[in-house]
Amino acid sequence: MSIKEQLESVRDDFLTDLESFPVNDKDIESLKSKYLGRKGLVASLFSLMGKAEPIDRPLLGQKLNSLKDEIYTLFTEKEKRSLKNDPSFQNPNLDFSLPGHVSSSGGIHILEQTLSEVKDIFKSIGFHIAYGPEVDDAYHNFTALNVPEHHPARDMQDTFFINPEVVLRSHTSNVQIHLMESLEPPLKYIVPGRVYRNEAISYKSYCLFHQVEGIYINEKVSFAELKGCLEYFIKQMFGPNKKMRFRPSYFPFTEPSAEVDLWDDEREQWMEILGCGMVDPKVISNVGYDPERWKGYAFGMGIERIAMLKYKINDIRLFYNSDIRFLDQF
Ligand code: PHE
Repeated sequence: MSIKEQLESVRDDFLTDLESFPVNDKDIESLKSKYLGRKGLVASLFSLMGKAEPIDRPLLGQKLNSLKDEIYTLFTEKEKRSLKNDPSFQNPNLDFSLPGHVSSSGGIHILEQTLSEVKDIFKSIGFHIAYGPEVDDAYHNFTALNVPEHHPARDMQDTFFINPEVVLRSHTSNVQIHLMESLEPPLKYIVPGRVYRNEAISYKSYCLFHQVEGIYINEKVSFAELKGCLEYFIKQMFGPNKKMRFRPSYFPFTEPSAEVDLWDDEREQWMEILGCGMVDPKVISNVGYDPERWKGYAFGMGIERIAMLKYKINDIRLFYNSDIRFLDQF
């Protein structure tokens, strides 16, 4: 770039800076030294004069001087309009050293944030999202899921009964049935939602919590795919180094079944976060699918526990007592 071009670009930069900078005194000072200071941009243009052809110097000198004057004048004008010189600042009844009022804005609840992360991960691997009823008949919550009447498994989840035929769902697995009843296979869904259990309340159990159910039905589905899917999910959610383990388990609606535990770094022990397994052929035939042709896997995970482990929240009740000091942290 020739000196003349550099001069033009310093001028352009100055005009843009002047346009956008706010009018407090500190900003004015720093902008002033950027252009007019001893080591400022104008001074460095002057120091380039020595490199110019002698014949060009007088004209360049003139141009530089008028740039300097122009910058100086524009500054002075801007300064006049700065806050310091604003008449409202001269008002003796105003004390500008008093702290201001900070108005706090609302935010998205940490559970809802966690739920969005979970949904995004499963959407990225082909799951659709569906919802189902929180108050449901015992058929969808139990019977169709291969939990026979009078079977102790109905008590396994400490269900809130509204009457012997109607329950507050004890898990989101009821929506597995609703989906399969209304759709033709193959299907691949996650189902977020609230579930209710009349359990002893503790740091990790509450009478109400959130689950995300997953159900995948197709002609060929293997346990290895289920494992791969859940491992992928945990890696995306917690990073590659989270300690997890699959543990054999039992659910009436899956065979074989497993549970997944994650390492709780704070309490230094395992925490169960989900149940899963291959959809039991009885469930497949209960919804009218051909169990010879259709296979599937399903899982159901607890969102509060996932949020607790990810965000180091040590008590599930914190999600529900609306304490601003807790909520504000997220
Ligand atoms: N419904 C089970 C529970 O609430 C979890 C689960 C879902 C297990 C799907 C297997 C398959 O604990």
